[in-house]
Amino acid sequence: MKAHISAVAHYVPPDVFDNNWFASFLDTSDQWIRERTGIIERRFLRKGATSDMIVPAARAVLEQRGLSPAEIDCIIVCTVTPDQFFPSTAANVQRKLGASNAWGFDLNAACSGFVYGLWVAAKLVEAGGARNVLLCGADKMSSIINFEDRATCVLFGDGAGVVLLEPTDDDSVGVLDAIIRMDGEGGRYLYMPAGGSLRPPSLETVANKEHYVHQDGQTVFKAAVVGMADVSAAIMERNGLQPDDVAWLVPHQANLRIIDATRRRMGLPEEKVAINIDRYGNTTAATIPICLSELYRDGKLRRGDNLILASFGAGYTWGSLWLRWSLQGTPE
Ligand code: COA
Repeated sequence: MKAHISAVAHYVPPDVFDNNWFASFLDTSDQWIRERTGIIERRFLRKGATSDMIVPAARAVLEQRGLSPAEIDCIIVCTVTPDQFFPSTAANVQRKLGASNAWGFDLNAACSGFVYGLWVAAKLVEAGGARNVLLCGADKMSSIINFEDRATCVLFGDGAGVVLLEPTDDDSVGVLDAIIRMDGEGGRYLYMPAGGSLRPPSLETVANKEHYVHQDGQTVFKAAVVGMADVSAAIMERNGLQPDDVAWLVPHQANLRIIDATRRRMGLPEEKVAINIDRYGNTTAATIPICLSELYRDGKLRRGDNLILASFGAGYTWGSLWLRWSLQGTPE
């Protein structure tokens, strides 16, 4: 038995912020941001929390699949911007949806959250530990970026993507393989310095802006280029997949140049790469499910298509997952 994605939807906030908006108060330009990252605009959620972006996407998933909230068995929320430290955002989603029979938890693997979560959820379903899993990748990055740090704030956006994982008797489709990695030595290059048990919040941590994303962009960039390309090439090789066999690379959207390096290592043409970084920036755990949702909505996925999902993020965490699409047509 395999686990397959039986429905997918996404939510992005309505408010659009283009590169010129940043240039109006920071020493930056539309040209610099476009050329160095591929980002043109992103969405920020003005009011509400991460769970408020998940709930509309989750409702759309249930409607697509014709299920009631009470039929959800397990909710996993992949995020680095939970509504609060605790209770989990999964618990908030459960309450807001009225998913009265669901248990669940949050998973933190930063930008690799969705790939990690998909592997965990698929194995849970395959093992019979859950009848279905509502897997959510969502982040409100605007709540943890320093809008005075031009090298960081222009990169991120807010959004949510949700899939439903269910068992299928057809072993040829669904989540087929994954190569997942972690290297804690990378922690010091991309992190939030304070707010946890190591450095609890204080007037000093607030004054020092330690509750925001801190990163050494160039070091992360180099590690991401190598890491994402390595696992993506490795998963193709391990499964005997040639470039012609792959319908789509669905990569984490951190920087167009990182995506391009991965694509070239896999030997794929540009038209086989899912891109939305230009419109949404880096939405962290949401990038991949939003891409999947848009591909499905736009009729670009066919049953039997081989998809390679690839990610790199804080930790470091990274990974690549082979998924064979199982749905026919477009969402109802
Ligand atoms: N506008 C204009 N100039 C900027 C800028 C901005 N928004 N941000 C940085 N710069 C400047 C830098 O200050 C630097 O100036 P200097 O040479 O005078 O010091 C110059 O641009 C080059 O900076 P550099 O860091 O070498 O640029 P880069 O080509 O590496 O691009 C990132 C910077 C952040 C876009 C890139 O490193 C990146 O994408 N890294 C990965 C980050 C990431 O994806 N993190 C999320 C998790 S995966």
